[in-house]
Amino acid sequence: QSEKTLALIKPGMYDHIGQVMTEIARAGLKIIRLQMLVLSREDAMEFYAEHQGKPFFDNLVEMMISEPIVAMELMGPSAISAWRRLMGPTEKDRARMEAPNSIRAKFARNNTYNAVHGSDSPASAEREIAFFFGRPGYFPTTATF
Ligand code: CMP
Repeated sequence: QSEKTLALIKPGMYDHIGQVMTEIARAGLKIIRLQMLVLSREDAMEFYAEHQGKPFFDNLVEMMISEPIVAMELMGPSAISAWRRLMGPTEKDRARMEAPNSIRAKFARNNTYNAVHGSDSPASAEREIAFFFGRPGYFPTTATF
């Protein structure tokens, strides 16, 4: 049974966008929609609303708006857990200890600049896919360099 999830390639990952997409394809997942964009502060705060009030929230928002990101809708068998397995644990040190070949083990700089994001449940996948791809007329700012 096919499933969908939202994947983000976060700021700081420009040089590794191709490698992340290759790993997604080799894991048997399909990239069915993709956009490079720059989040506004308001959008970043809304996307991560569940983390409002946590000590890392302000740094998280600043990080997310600091550079272009790549948003992708992924589809495949158990896409949510398959993409989370590719990403590895959220925290850099745990990723390096527990999943040394994971994307975060290879590319996370710290617990904020942790390379990638993935939806954590079917409900959040639905919300997050709709956030990036489900709003008619929503065109977030195009990347500029
Ligand atoms: P993400 O999986 O996108 O979900 C929340 C984000 O907050 C996380 O990745 C990191 O970018 C950031 N973050 C920063 N510090 C922490 C922390 N201590 N625990 C969890 N997430 C953190």
